[in-house]
Amino acid sequence: MIHSRTAEARRTPWTPDSWRSLVAHQQPAWDPAELERAVAELRSLPALVQPGEISNLRRALADAAHGRAFVVQAGDCAESFEDATTEHITSRGRLIARLARGFEQISGRPAVAIGRIAGQYAKPRSAPTELVDGRALPVFRGHMVNGAAPTASARRADASRLVQGYYRSATTLNLLRTLHAHPAGQLWVSRECLLLPYDRSTLRNDPASEQWFLSSTHFPWIGERTRDIGGAHVELLSGVVNPLGVKVGPAVTPEELVALCARLDPERAPGRLTLITRFGANAVRRVLPELVAAVSAAGHPVVWMCDPMHGNTIRLPSGIKTRRVADLLAELDGWFDVLAGAGAHPGGLHLECTPDDVRECVDEDTSEVGEQQSLCDPRLDADQASTLVRGAAQGVRRGARPVP
Ligand code: PEP
Ligand code: CO
Repeated sequence: MIHSRTAEARRTPWTPDSWRSLVAHQQPAWDPAELERAVAELRSLPALVQPGEISNLRRALADAAHGRAFVVQAGDCAESFEDATTEHITSRGRLIARLARGFEQISGRPAVAIGRIAGQYAKPRSAPTELVDGRALPVFRGHMVNGAAPTASARRADASRLVQGYYRSATTLNLLRTLHAHPAGQLWVSRECLLLPYDRSTLRNDPASEQWFLSSTHFPWIGERTRDIGGAHVELLSGVVNPLGVKVGPAVTPEELVALCARLDPERAPGRLTLITRFGANAVRRVLPELVAAVSAAGHPVVWMCDPMHGNTIRLPSGIKTRRVADLLAELDGWFDVLAGAGAHPGGLHLECTPDDVRECVDEDTSEVGEQQSLCDPRLDADQASTLVRGAAQGVRRGARPVP
């Protein structure tokens, strides 16, 4: 049986609502009555994922923690409600599966394929408002909150979107289950845990184990902006049995990271916790060694996953955001070198990519950037994503080679 939370003397016990007394970063200003209606409806709706699947994914991630498997997690930065169509879901599922199979062929190591899909509809933002034609508008926070159009009415936080997001997640997952029904081609789903009333209303208690699980995704992660150890996101997820991801940026200290591990993985259970590092090509070799040393010394068997996307975003003078594949590969190289030096297993790769024909990321030359179609961050196209996956597979092969 998986235990996600042990009794901790000084903290009040976890409950599905214990997060409510803590600071909740990145929450939109909902209309209370609308939110109440949405949450009441969500609480009565069926679970999208089941406890048995969650246990299976934890086992697969335990293999990744031990260096017997490697996670390929990929998908849109922000999914669009408009893209919850047969065509878009099919092409996205196929791309993720193809990346995972490509990884296996080159590395010889099994891949665990996880999509940023079926619920990746909410985004943390660096500011609550933005200036449009001299007027401050609430920022776009993902289709589960508001519309992207730069008008006051589109940007209003609309709680009925939480329910719409649930149904789109359900139809997306249903199609993915059909397309990836073969156990060897299993596709797991993941999203950022951000909008706490939504997450709370999709918590379910498993009668067989009496444990709580987040029923709206297999693999929730906590973002770089919400991983406050005293905050509501960490509290809510600390009490569920799902495997958890945490994004970790270059400002984290070893003490802070070890405290997060203690909080989210008190039992030191392989497969429970994945640390998704996103430092940037310039920082990875400087920052990561101390962190790996500290987490290893504390005995947490985490999955180390490289997100080469979020530390390498460039804003061009035109205001458009892009990323250079050369920088992403440089971060990935540094990440492999540091882990090898520390004797830790490389556990996974985290990408933002799309099967659509876009030029949001460039190979090297930022003048080649095309129109930004992404709702949020610039995504790799399929070829660029394959390049990154190949880099990871080669890194795994290098590390797996017996010492002569
Ligand atoms: C993301 O994954 O889209 C994201 C916002 O990442 P981070 O929390 O690492 O900034
Ligand atoms: Co992103």
